[in-house]
Amino acid sequence: MFDLVISNATIIDGTGTDRYLGTVCVLDDKIAAIMTKTDVVPDARQHIDGQGLILSPGFIDVHTHDDIALIVTPDMQTKVSQGVTSVIVGLCGYSPAPFLPNAQIPEEYSILIQNDGQRFERFSAFLKAVEEARPAVNYLALVGHSTLRLSVMERLDRAATKAEIAQMAVLLEESMEAGAIGLSSGLAYSMALQSDTRELIELCRAMSARGGFYVTHIRNEADGMIDGVKEALTIGREAEVPVVLSHHKALCAHNHGATKMSLSLIDKARKQQKLALDVYPYCFSSTSLTRERAARGGHIVIARSETLPQMVGKSLMDVAAILKCSIEEAVDRLQPAGALFYLMSEEDVQRVMHYDLTMIGSDGLPFDERPHPRLWGTFARVLSRYVRDIPIYSLEQAIHRMTGLPAQVFGLQERGVIRQGAFADLVLFCEDDIADLATAEHPAQPSAGIRAVFVNGKSAEARCGRLIR
Ligand code: ZN
Ligand code: CU
Repeated sequence: MFDLVISNATIIDGTGTDRYLGTVCVLDDKIAAIMTKTDVVPDARQHIDGQGLILSPGFIDVHTHDDIALIVTPDMQTKVSQGVTSVIVGLCGYSPAPFLPNAQIPEEYSILIQNDGQRFERFSAFLKAVEEARPAVNYLALVGHSTLRLSVMERLDRAATKAEIAQMAVLLEESMEAGAIGLSSGLAYSMALQSDTRELIELCRAMSARGGFYVTHIRNEADGMIDGVKEALTIGREAEVPVVLSHHKALCAHNHGATKMSLSLIDKARKQQKLALDVYPYCFSSTSLTRERAARGGHIVIARSETLPQMVGKSLMDVAAILKCSIEEAVDRLQPAGALFYLMSEEDVQRVMHYDLTMIGSDGLPFDERPHPRLWGTFARVLSRYVRDIPIYSLEQAIHRMTGLPAQVFGLQERGVIRQGAFADLVLFCEDDIADLATAEHPAQPSAGIRAVFVNGKSAEARCGRLIR
């Protein structure tokens, strides 16, 4: 007697190989059997007829800012509704722990932390709070480099000293002991812009024996993108840690096409070091609004403003016109604020998606009033737009980028594949109906086509997500 049987489904197992017809039998939290003779349906407490539907491993969102969302919105509708069963949190240098009590948290952290109750002195306390919230999805956590800097440095407008690096390394090791899987950086952000390469190499060295990953939002994604990639590769090589390049892109029209060069650099480097990338399938980005980012030009739409919430959804140009002030002054008056930036080319996005080490990560910001549609739409968009409409992937390949590949990159032995003995993280969906409905205008829309989502053998509603380390 099984707990769950999904019969006669078209199984795409996450490895990238061709689909086949079969019945998946779940006992407790694992896949206990897979039957390809489909005429008999085994006994089970719950039976789902999978005929005509795709059954694949649940998707792994490798780039999120869901650290606090796991605690305050544990049903994780933004992710479950598009078939995601595991998320990696703590990206771009931002994590809610370890924050020593004296650390002053700058405004830019408002993408992650809404109030003082959401900062934790120890990484173990953060993980305990998540566990107690019983989130619907599994989670892996990174330690933010900016968080470490805020904890040990009084001023962030310089590189860390030897003593400060040593202190940060202790906090990093403690956090990994508690369950973190590595270090993330956001070198383009003011908290980390003045750090130097040596600081990052030394921090990465401190975690290399524990098998830590270095996941990086590189120092510059516009004019300095190639140098940013080179720096990331150097850090990985010198410290002997695997590197994951976050949301790989080339910003600003005069840099379009630069991903050709970055991917060829990566292609050479991968022979000597462990590397991977992630991407979100949109050609506009979303982050905090600063004067410097406004100065890059391009179409900018306000996504969040604490002081002038009525401006959300308007373009920055319109805001300046309404306020009868300069663009710079408009930016100042909107603070703290976030925006959408239309600065990428579709060709670059597709080129990055096509590269064989590229995984899918949403990079969604769960607390934006009008978030980037990637928060709700990323995975369904890849399966509709980039499999059905502009087929750059077969369905098997697309699913591999979202399941088996991230499991392989992050060393998750029993996730990301449909195999006997693997954890039963599963999504059942219709390949003809699947579609992202989230748009820039109406971003909080669940995707169409997802029929059922299981995490560790239970329906996602049961909220049985676990820490993966
Ligand atoms: Zn980032
Ligand atoms: Cu990010």
